[in-house]
Amino acid sequence: MTHTVKVRPATPKDLEGMMRIEELCFGDERFDSETVRAYLARTDAFAIVAVTKDGIVGAAMSTASARLGRGRIGSVAVLEGHRGKGVGKKLLEACETEFRARGITQFLLEVAVDNIDAIKLYEANGYRISDIIGGYYSRGKDAYLMEKDVTMEGRRVRIRPS
Ligand SMILES: CC(C)(COP(=O)(O)OP(=O)(O)OC[C@H]1O[C@@H](n2cnc3c(N)ncnc32)[C@H](O)[C@@H]1OP(=O)(O)O)[C@@H](O)C(=O)NCCC(=O)NCCS
Repeated sequence: MTHTVKVRPATPKDLEGMMRIEELCFGDERFDSETVRAYLARTDAFAIVAVTKDGIVGAAMSTASARLGRGRIGSVAVLEGHRGKGVGKKLLEACETEFRARGITQFLLEVAVDNIDAIKLYEANGYRISDIIGGYYSRGKDAYLMEKDVTMEGRRVRIRPS
């Protein structure tokens, strides 16, 4: 059965639901509750949840450095039964909307080199691999650094009248 999925900013009340997503989607690579709490509390961070009438089905967490003009997506995850329906894309877009609202136009993230579903999602949404980070994950797995730069977005090329 399909339920409407809404995406909204997370609040401290969402901690338990977000921890469930972390556990089910990342297992022993999950963020601990202190880390998730920090994403919810820090002014230079934010979290987004995807919610159906049954509860939280997905979450994304990001840090946003206005000083550097850079936003880093730390986690995007959707419960298995809700994947392939655009929820991941909605979470990603919500992070980007929040970055833009904070004046940030360079977005980056790390993803395991064998996480094909995630890499496809990011590529389909304009992210490009810019580097490989050896041994990034706890078991020594490598990560790709992926980046999207929208600094020039919406700028028009002015053609001087002759
Ligand atoms: C990566 C992840 C977040 C993607 O979430 P998702 O909700 O499945 O993502 P989307 O549905 O937005 O996009 C995935 C695919 O579904 C397709 N899709 C989007 N809307 C759709 C719809 N309405 N109906 C059918 N398919 C759809 C997309 O086109 C995409 O397909 P493609 O890869 O062939 O182009 C999810 O697989 C996940 O949680 N994985 C485990 C955690 C993880 O590894 N996270 C990344 C850490 S860096």
